Amino acid sequence: MKRQQMRGLVMALMLTTALPTAAAHAQAAAPAASKAWMNAKLSADQRADLIVAQMTQDEKLTLVFGYFGSNQDKPKFTPHAEARMGSAGYIPGIPRLGVPPQWETDAGVGVATQRESSDPYLERTSLPSGIATAATWNPDLAFKGGAMIGSEARSSGFNVMLAGGVNLARDPRNGRNFEYGGEDPLLAGVMVGAQIKGIQSNNIISTIKHWALNGQETNRMTVSSNIADAAARQSDFLAFEFAIEQSNPGSVMCAYNRINSVYACESDWLMNEVLKKDWGYKGYVMSDWGATHSTAKAANAGLDQESAYTFDKQPFFGAPLKAALADGSVSQTRLDDMARRITRSMFAHGLFDHPVVKGPIDFAAHAKVTQADAEESIVLLKNDGGLLPIARTARKIVVIGSHSDVGVLSGGGSSQVFPIGGMAVKGLGPKGFPGPIVFHPSSPLKALQARNPGATFTYNDGTDPAAAAKAAAGADLVIVFAHQWAAESEDYSLTLANNQDALIDAVAAANSRTAVVLQTGGPVLMPWLPKVGAVVEAWYAGTNGGEAIARVLTGEVNPSGRLPITFPQSADQLPRPVIDGDNSKPDLMVDANYDIEGAAVGYKWFDQKGHQPLFAFGHGLSYSTFGYSDLKSRVTGDTLTVSFKVTNTGKTAGKDVPQVYVGPKGGSGWEAPRRLGGFKKVDLAPGASTQVSVTVDPRLLATFDSKAKTWTIAAGAYEVSLGASSRDLGAKTDVTLAAKTLPVSYDGK
Ligand code: BGC
Repeated sequence: MKRQQMRGLVMALMLTTALPTAAAHAQAAAPAASKAWMNAKLSADQRADLIVAQMTQDEKLTLVFGYFGSNQDKPKFTPHAEARMGSAGYIPGIPRLGVPPQWETDAGVGVATQRESSDPYLERTSLPSGIATAATWNPDLAFKGGAMIGSEARSSGFNVMLAGGVNLARDPRNGRNFEYGGEDPLLAGVMVGAQIKGIQSNNIISTIKHWALNGQETNRMTVSSNIADAAARQSDFLAFEFAIEQSNPGSVMCAYNRINSVYACESDWLMNEVLKKDWGYKGYVMSDWGATHSTAKAANAGLDQESAYTFDKQPFFGAPLKAALADGSVSQTRLDDMARRITRSMFAHGLFDHPVVKGPIDFAAHAKVTQADAEESIVLLKNDGGLLPIARTARKIVVIGSHSDVGVLSGGGSSQVFPIGGMAVKGLGPKGFPGPIVFHPSSPLKALQARNPGATFTYNDGTDPAAAAKAAAGADLVIVFAHQWAAESEDYSLTLANNQDALIDAVAAANSRTAVVLQTGGPVLMPWLPKVGAVVEAWYAGTNGGEAIARVLTGEVNPSGRLPITFPQSADQLPRPVIDGDNSKPDLMVDANYDIEGAAVGYKWFDQKGHQPLFAFGHGLSYSTFGYSDLKSRVTGDTLTVSFKVTNTGKTAGKDVPQVYVGPKGGSGWEAPRRLGGFKKVDLAPGASTQVSVTVDPRLLATFDSKAKTWTIAAGAYEVSLGASSRDLGAKTDVTLAAKTLPVSYDGK
């Protein structure tokens, strides 16, 4: 069911549901005399134990039951003024015990506003989309971006940020790939983990999501992602595992979809077994908005908090949970555990000790943070004959399409950050969720003009290919901006919409000096590729995206983004050429067979099948060139360390991302010939070299044994390759590994 379709249900329920409120409890229970849990010297565990011991049953029930943070729910808030209107969610506090409310905001690129609300939008800084940050392959930038948006959340009065989307891109058409970290568990886990760490550095909670296997938006509320335990643990789960180990998020959000026929928010396997038991996760699980389907089943499977209950078919926690406790279908121990997990995370992440206060935001400083992220995210896919950077001698430059005269595109849905200064183009896209289509007011054209004062720029809006071709003829350089809007709740086609392929074809036929700048949430097909000189993937570039794009096109910034996702040549190369389901039938109980590829997601599938991608995972060009030498592998104890030298062999300073791939020699037993084992972003002056050393996590050398519940490394010879992408592998070295098993609880330490 789409979010907007839930609204009818929501209004009907509002009139009928009587729920306990924190104020009512405060009257019923005695004031807590000494608040021993406020002693910051105690551990979060001790403090949670102390506070839960003081709670009445209704107070515990208050903590596990969430409201939607909009006007729609206003009559339920106590007191109303406490909620942050237009936000994703709200859980009242317990004033008697000093428990602050939980004020929740989306999401991964900044403080988002809920479209349904009649309250004014918050205008905030937007990072480039999650897949763009992943394309930087630079965890420092992900951390800084996270720290920046977390500080805006805090200054806007939020203490829970629903950010940390790490679902693997199993399908390049997934409408939410733009929010996530790409197709590889190591890259996604490291990058999203770094962002969460940055967000939580503001003494707020970040919520990793969507747990798990939320791999498509088509029928997202009903689809069952079917996959075997071992394959899940070696792929999607591993991305979560890496991110959680690195960042210790206060909360995990269970997903809309079913897994092996069981709703994610009712899955004992997902929540109790993998997350809480196998990985020892101590935080709490909150449901996605509309993902709770039961009371006892969900609570007993490990769901700790029902979010924004109005999105569900009925409230399942709150009063029904109280009844389930009374009739014994949910135990008191379980409710105590839920309250304990929530307060533990609130203590561990500073919500008690550092209450959020609304305050000023330094938007100018934050613009620099998002711009730095965008600049490193841009991927130069093709550059024949050095068409880019723009030559100083170029006098006549024609810029075409995608509103590039006024702004840059962003992805739609709950993560939508509304631009400072308003939308650059008004009235685009769906009026309701997941619209509108938002362009941030950062004009690539103006940023280019400012940097090329000697050149004459002409803008053509690209709606008429023949007119655009006419404008392009005879120019020294033509830059066509093409875009594909992606948004939550829908998957998209790999073919550029609105006749843009024909536009590029016509322009390239009129002028061979044509560069294409793509603004997409992920891969698209490029039937015109041989006809254009250069292609740049700029993703959704955020608040200062126009500046970032211009700086890369002019060479002020040497491009250093690398693809975090494989670009296919056609949908036929994918595990599922046609996406399962039908979004026009929201209640369809559909199956997506992820056992087809199992753990072989993205490039691993392409390698296993021998498919030639359009652009490979890890690919990205530079205005300079880099050489690799002295590749060595050594095993000390349990650790495989790979070292090598990187040299900037070109004439321009720049950043490079050498990538280490590992695989069993002879290739048996794994889901694919090789996996990404490590990477490092390096910054080198022309002629300079640096020595790099990366260690390979042993889980990336193992397979998961579901029966024994262990990671198992098979004894034998392994090949270590060093390259510039998954398909551009240079030097190789062999290493012999001894047989080894690691417990399921292994966490890299
Ligand atoms: C999305 C979540 C989001 C939540 C709150 C849901 O539709 O799937 O990612 O955090 O809404 O807005």
